[in-house]
Amino acid sequence: MNFAVTVDGRAAIGGVSGPIGSKADTAMLVGLRKRFDAVMIGAGTKRAEGYEKIGPRLVVVESGPGREPADLPALLRSLRDEGVRSLLCEGGPTLHGSLQAAGLVDELFLTIAPKLAGAGAAGILAGELAEIEPLELAWLLEQDGELFARYRSIGAAPDSL
Ligand SMILES: NC(=O)c1ccc[n+]([C@@H]2O[C@H](COP(=O)([O-])OP(=O)(O)OC[C@H]3O[C@@H](n4cnc5c(N)ncnc54)[C@H](OP(=O)(O)O)[C@@H]3O)[C@@H](O)[C@H]2O)c1
Repeated sequence: MNFAVTVDGRAAIGGVSGPIGSKADTAMLVGLRKRFDAVMIGAGTKRAEGYEKIGPRLVVVESGPGREPADLPALLRSLRDEGVRSLLCEGGPTLHGSLQAAGLVDELFLTIAPKLAGAGAAGILAGELAEIEPLELAWLLEQDGELFARYRSIGAAPDSL
């Protein structure tokens, strides 16, 4: 997973993520994408952010009106069968919640931008988790007050990046 948040934990400003991170954050994300076979987003993120021509293969998760939620383990299995060995999910909070609830997230790249957004925007994870998910900090970088953290889910598979 990759997200950018404000210090007060908001994942959007004015309905989009663009105003949160700096140019360094964009550069980090562009560099990160190059290390993955595909990028995955939820339909809400596609609607909010556009996501035209990002480079790697883009997988958009959607259910459609009146349809059941996607079977995420089956989706990941079928992507793996198609040769996708590493997948970067860029949100949003709804898809992140579903992936965490299903135990399908091994790492979280989190940019913490030195700004406050105030009320009205969601955080990085929507929905309930059966248990609190402990994370291990793999590394933390800083530039101009912006923090770039990489967390691992405890017990996740060894680093393959
Ligand atoms: N700060 C950041 O790094 C960051 C990153 C990403 C997004 N965002 C922000 O997050 C907001 C969007 O939030 P969101 O929660 O709506 O985003 P989202 O998780 O991308 O989209 C939710 C939608 O994705 C589809 N979806 C998600 N999980 C699904 C599943 N298991 N099966 C089938 N469909 C599934 C559904 O679409 P349908 O109902 O259409 O089928 C659902 O309504 C925007 O403001 C965006 O800017 C911020």
